Amino acid sequence: MADAYILGIESSCDETAAAVVRSGEKLISNVVASQIATHQPYGGVVPELASREHLRAIVPVVRQALADAKQTYHSLDAIAVTQGPGLAGALLVGISYAKALAFALDKPLIAVNHLEGHVHAVLLEERQKGNHEPQFPVLALVVSGGHTHLYLAARKNEGWTYENIGHTRDDAAGEAFDKVAKLIGLGYPGGPIVDRLAPHGDPSAVKFLPAQIKHPDRRHHRGQKEEIENDRPRFDFSYSGIKTAVLRYVEVHGMRDSIELRRQALAKISKPKLEDYLATCDRQTLDLVASFQRAIVEDLVSKTLAAAQAYDVATLFVTGGVAANSELRKTFEQQGAQAGVPVYFPSRALSTDNAAMIAAAAYPKYLAKDFAAMDFSAEANLVLR
Ligand code: KG4
Ligand code: ZN
Repeated sequence: MADAYILGIESSCDETAAAVVRSGEKLISNVVASQIATHQPYGGVVPELASREHLRAIVPVVRQALADAKQTYHSLDAIAVTQGPGLAGALLVGISYAKALAFALDKPLIAVNHLEGHVHAVLLEERQKGNHEPQFPVLALVVSGGHTHLYLAARKNEGWTYENIGHTRDDAAGEAFDKVAKLIGLGYPGGPIVDRLAPHGDPSAVKFLPAQIKHPDRRHHRGQKEEIENDRPRFDFSYSGIKTAVLRYVEVHGMRDSIELRRQALAKISKPKLEDYLATCDRQTLDLVASFQRAIVEDLVSKTLAAAQAYDVATLFVTGGVAANSELRKTFEQQGAQAGVPVYFPSRALSTDNAAMIAAAAYPKYLAKDFAAMDFSAEANLVLR
């Protein structure tokens, strides 16, 4: 089979990204235009602004990805784009552009699930290192700003199939990082800031109880209550409680004024450095940050390893924006080794949203000629199966 050069396009949230990947195993170029500066004043992603920024960035980002890869529009073999899940308006920018390119160039168009992209970020880099295909079954924890999902993954012909065996009942882990950072006056996005501040505090200073999930999951499906429960064990997460616990801690300990001062001080600095954050944080705040991160990490690692044991998996993947977290990586490595399960992460650059993962996930579909029809559309709540 000749090499296939696939252009990936990703615009599901707040990064406009394009990349060229060869045959699902070699990253040729990877361009990510972040919108952090646009959303920062609002402390979170504003969907309308995200769409507008994608529109502004999509053409130059794709051009840059082609130039870095020394490819032309005509030398590509296929165009892959994120179909969902994500913000509908943001997804549509990438999809419309990918469709136009595929139509004008008469190239195959491939629709990719963003979550499958995160899984393939791991595979792409392992293949690039010359490692063998993973041992199955694989358990993948996709942990990001929008998701905290556990998938049991298996191979099926050229492609992969996924069974969801756990998900967050409320906030995603990355969302908890972002909301708590905002609450403490640290700005947006919270994950990377908390990651860098946590080693400066005492993680045992504040006790956060892990969320106990006792009731079965009830979801509204087309207006009907649907019980998602089968006889397979489930490993669900919940992170809205810890956010409330941090809020209570802040109130009980009278931290509101110092938080407001921190917010104002940091707002005056265009790109605060670690020293700037440290200069605005007292011991109590650093201890709170470290304890919060420890609680999230312990919950993610213990539930995931319990699921790995229950399903007797051979390999664990940890991927998505929160997989960039230093303490999470270290704890998974240590406890995975103790449990005898090899754990694989993407590099930090491919943990957060990017288009290389989309181009990589598209390769099995390219081999299977699983191409998208020109009338396919964005699916904000696309499920991974
Ligand atoms: O995968 P991603 O780029 O976008 C989504 O699909 O959501 O993930 C972004 C999320 C944000 O919530 C961000 O705060 C979090 O990942 N994140 C981190 C770190 N880097 C990014 N969380 C903890 N530690 C980090 N180092
Ligand atoms: Zn993502």
